[in-house]
Amino acid sequence: MPFEILENEEMATGVQKMVIDAPDVARAAKAGQFVIVRAYDDSERIPLTIADIDTERGTIMMSVQALGKGTKQIARMEVGEHLADFVGPLGTPADVKKIGTVILVGGGVGIAPIYPQIKAYKDAGNRVVTVIGARNEGLLMMEKEFEAASDEHYVTTDDGSKGRHGFVTEVVKELLDKQNAGEYEHERIGRVVVIGPPILMKVATDMMKDYPDVEIVVSINAMMVDGTGMCGGCRVVVGGEVKFACVDGPEFDGRLVDFDTVMNRLMIYKKDELAASQKYDE
Ligand code: FES
Repeated sequence: MPFEILENEEMATGVQKMVIDAPDVARAAKAGQFVIVRAYDDSERIPLTIADIDTERGTIMMSVQALGKGTKQIARMEVGEHLADFVGPLGTPADVKKIGTVILVGGGVGIAPIYPQIKAYKDAGNRVVTVIGARNEGLLMMEKEFEAASDEHYVTTDDGSKGRHGFVTEVVKELLDKQNAGEYEHERIGRVVVIGPPILMKVATDMMKDYPDVEIVVSINAMMVDGTGMCGGCRVVVGGEVKFACVDGPEFDGRLVDFDTVMNRLMIYKKDELAASQKYDE
């Protein structure tokens, strides 16, 4: 049977690292893409960004934050069990090319999905700076892996329990200010990629107004149903046009994304999700 769970362990508070046996998906997957997963035949379909690809072993790693009923069902499955569905890779791969220096920013649950981009950008000849942050130390993950894979690496926590006290955006701002002052001694920072909660991506994009010649790329984790561009569930407004995060994204030019509609739509679903999740826990 396919899609066996090979590993399932807590990587941060409330977040499971899950490794799935899926050789076909692993062979085709690229950084920035996602999979749609169902724990059981009657479970809801959950989009999860790919956090690591091992083509030799034929596995995909993903981080699962158990929030709603669907994610809880997945996260609570045991090693040796099989997922009912594991569809992918879906979405457009990250537009990775030679830029110079690229800053990859992962906030909270966005930390794991940004990990495969380190290798992709490095393979394309870039210098890679990573900045990962979370509310507190318990919510951080993969610090060792990030440190080993990056040319320059920073950790922040909102409460100062690990790394720098503050937000990931402050580190990015410092680096870009250094560059503007002519004091950044490395290849030019030409792109910032941010994956994390919508509010973080919005704040980061707003901050980038001061650096108009540096690209900002965000990954929109919209509500998804079919993941193939048919249902319209994941629509987002980008550059005044309706786009589907599942096929046109999930990555977009942050400056073109209408974050308010993204956040409003997520809020609408959140209420239903919370109700279903509480019922599941009863
Ligand atoms: Fe249905 Fe994107 S999830 S159109």
